[in-house]
Amino acid sequence: MVEQIENMLASYKGEKGGLIPMLQKVQQRLGYLSPEAVSQIAKLLNISESEIFGVASFYAQFRFTPSGEHSVKVCLGTACHVRGGVRILETVERELNIVPGGTTQDYKFSLERVACFGCCALAPVMVIDKEVYGRMAPAKAKQILAEY
Ligand code: FES
Repeated sequence: MVEQIENMLASYKGEKGGLIPMLQKVQQRLGYLSPEAVSQIAKLLNISESEIFGVASFYAQFRFTPSGEHSVKVCLGTACHVRGGVRILETVERELNIVPGGTTQDYKFSLERVACFGCCALAPVMVIDKEVYGRMAPAKAKQILAEY
């Protein structure tokens, strides 16, 4: 695994401003930023792992755990926020016992929050895999999750 990560990142070695492209490359290849990859990047760029965690956790695109079988995304864009998106997110967090960026222990679900799905008329919106669920309410979110 370490060798695979080394090869993946070799072209970025010593490159100024290489952190984000490296993180993107690892995320794209592995689906998440593994501890081994973070350690390797820290060595290549001569920065601390905590610095990398600090930068990566600022961006919603990076995750530190592998994705689950089902991707659950809750919209917190303006229209969804105004119509109760936060309550939907809180319900999903409680039901799955994870926070955005996390994966359930059985790797069945991953959770993310997004800024807008582009279907604001259906707000608040939740998307599981490619299925769009609109006009969500907390009870409806619970029921839909139970169906998976
Ligand atoms: S704000 Fe949620 S779909 Fe646009």
